[in-house]
Amino acid sequence: MKLKNFILAATTALFTLQSQADEGMWLLQLMQQQHSIDLMKKQGLKLEASDIYNPNGVSLKDAVGIFGGGCTGEIISPDGLVLTNHHCGYSAIQRHSSVEHDYLTDGFWAMRQEDELPNERLSFSFVHSIIDVTDIVNADIKSGKISEVESMTRPYLNKLSQEQMAKSELNGKPGIRAQVYPFYAGNSFYLIIYKVYSDVRMVAAPPSSIGKFGGETDNWMWPRHTCDFSVFRIYADANGEPAPYSPNNVPLKTPKYLPVSLKGLNENDYAMVLGFPGSTSRYLTASEVRERMQTTNQAEIDVRGVRLEVLREKMAASDKTRIQYANKFAGSSNYWKNSIGMNEAIIDNKVLEAKAEQERQFNIFAQGKPEYEGVVAKINAAVEKAIPVERQMDYLVEYRSAIEFRTPIDLMDQMKEALQKKDKAKVEELKGQLNSAFEQIHNKDYDHEVDRAVAKALMPAMSEFLSLSELPDYYQTVTDFDAYVDNIYDNSILANRTNLDKFLKKPTVKAIDRDPSLASMRSFTDCYTKAVEKYMEVEDLTLLHKAYIRGLNEMKDTPAYSDANFTMRLTYGNVKSYEPRDAVHYKYYTTADGVLEKEDPTNPEFVVPAKLKELIQKRDFGRYAMADGTLPACFLTTNDITGGNSGSPVMDAEGNLIGIAFDGNWESLSGDINFDNDLQRCIAVDIRYVLFVIDKLGNCQRLINEMKIIQ
Ligand code: ARG
Repeated sequence: MKLKNFILAATTALFTLQSQADEGMWLLQLMQQQHSIDLMKKQGLKLEASDIYNPNGVSLKDAVGIFGGGCTGEIISPDGLVLTNHHCGYSAIQRHSSVEHDYLTDGFWAMRQEDELPNERLSFSFVHSIIDVTDIVNADIKSGKISEVESMTRPYLNKLSQEQMAKSELNGKPGIRAQVYPFYAGNSFYLIIYKVYSDVRMVAAPPSSIGKFGGETDNWMWPRHTCDFSVFRIYADANGEPAPYSPNNVPLKTPKYLPVSLKGLNENDYAMVLGFPGSTSRYLTASEVRERMQTTNQAEIDVRGVRLEVLREKMAASDKTRIQYANKFAGSSNYWKNSIGMNEAIIDNKVLEAKAEQERQFNIFAQGKPEYEGVVAKINAAVEKAIPVERQMDYLVEYRSAIEFRTPIDLMDQMKEALQKKDKAKVEELKGQLNSAFEQIHNKDYDHEVDRAVAKALMPAMSEFLSLSELPDYYQTVTDFDAYVDNIYDNSILANRTNLDKFLKKPTVKAIDRDPSLASMRSFTDCYTKAVEKYMEVEDLTLLHKAYIRGLNEMKDTPAYSDANFTMRLTYGNVKSYEPRDAVHYKYYTTADGVLEKEDPTNPEFVVPAKLKELIQKRDFGRYAMADGTLPACFLTTNDITGGNSGSPVMDAEGNLIGIAFDGNWESLSGDINFDNDLQRCIAVDIRYVLFVIDKLGNCQRLINEMKIIQ
């Protein structure tokens, strides 16, 4: 049965079911067909499907977009004001920071529009339209133009995107970008057209002691007291079209923006989230879950663990280093901790058992159906072969990205050739490129000595994680890693300005051949290439997955959602408390009083700024207080979110903004693999806490005045 058919068939059984559907990252374009809109209304939604997604008019989806490269943001004023998480704006805040202007520590408030700061490499992407291209892909497979496996590969999907756009009137218009994505493991395909604005300015950010309160200790945890927000604004040219930064650009007029509700929330209230979940793997076999634990997750845990320890020490010792490495540290630590939590939760929540049961049922269902029979066994066999080489690759990838200093092999090879051929013009050109490579490595946020320390810790550690035959060949000969690393960090051409200038003055083949960093890079690349070649021999799982997922969905009597792939999704559910362990009940919200309970002036993660402390103690919360006089901080919902959703709006039944999603809870970190209705919670910061901070701490009433506030 084709996917479309089983979605329809599945819906007939639907209304006999309880409307308990918190699991699911639903595609807006299928809301009617899959009847998710009916379930949402049953749970309390007061809007129509066309209020949320309307291909022919303005709807809620137009108030939400991709912030930067991996987060969600929402429009909260008619003048393009964007709300997202503090941790999503973090790299922008960090890049504007120095020891003199430490916006990480002090926060940033643009008191006037002229003070809003432009950001290189920051964009905001609206979903312009969504077009079903499944029939086109299937026709290409049928006519033999491509194989079924190729239909899932980048080159084909990119080419198809271009072909489709060539026919579109939007083609070539400013900021228009289009991409075809596979859904349901390649059982359907959509072309998504984005309108990308590239002049996005920083408007406000609280100090990290508020926006990142609790730091790494509280990350992925509840109860939470982090006011995880930052504010940006989209600028456009005079016609409202996307344009690169220009002082002449003006705030984008946004036809759809979210009203902000200060009405407050209660347990079981309807809540929904629109955003861009990055990746989930909800349809794995038990063998693949084990594979994930032993490869990707374990590699992140082990390798990042070594690097983070070094960075922690160096950052504590110097303000300059702290600012330089703040964003790198947070990024690396986030999924290091996630991997630890996921591996634990998979065991605690009996995910392997749940997957084994699913396979048992699938195997019964598959009997006598040639397209499904034996699929699980084949996946298991392929996985068993893949695990060792995948493990090796994952460790090598983590290793490579943990150490920043690197010499570009390509450039050096070209230089060598140009020198041998005595091609003077080429040598001159390459000198320029080497100079840029040097600038790129030794950038504002790089410290050669910190990187050297990471290398010294990590190189010997790698031989505990991988066997000699799985490591670059220098592991066969090096006995003193300190000396090996020092040689690279002192004597290679790109190690410092003096070395580079010396080389550029008189470039020689001999100097290139003697470069210790280049030799090390080559050895690594050889090792990694061999691993990739080995991996290519493992059976391709694409088609087995496609069949397994199609079968699983046919088997169920409820509509299916596709794994997250950083396309726009809607999840609906309720505000809800939870009970992670015997006798432990977690209330669905926290208050600012908890900030003071957690305060620890000796621990930088739990410092409370004096002004905030004073406001809390004086109960000076203005209109943001709850009826009992306390100030709400964060709250929990049953919404199904993951990384990429960060910054997503949490909305009430009328589509008003009540919070910003920013995290998940520890007990459900197996959620990307298996959603647990009892345990999985989305953690959001209450919009009243956000507005309180903007208003009373930032004194940025001009921003509050732009919003539509519902009391
Ligand atoms: N865990 C959250 C997420 O992935 C927040 C991460 C940033 N915070 C941090 N302390 N590193 O969205």
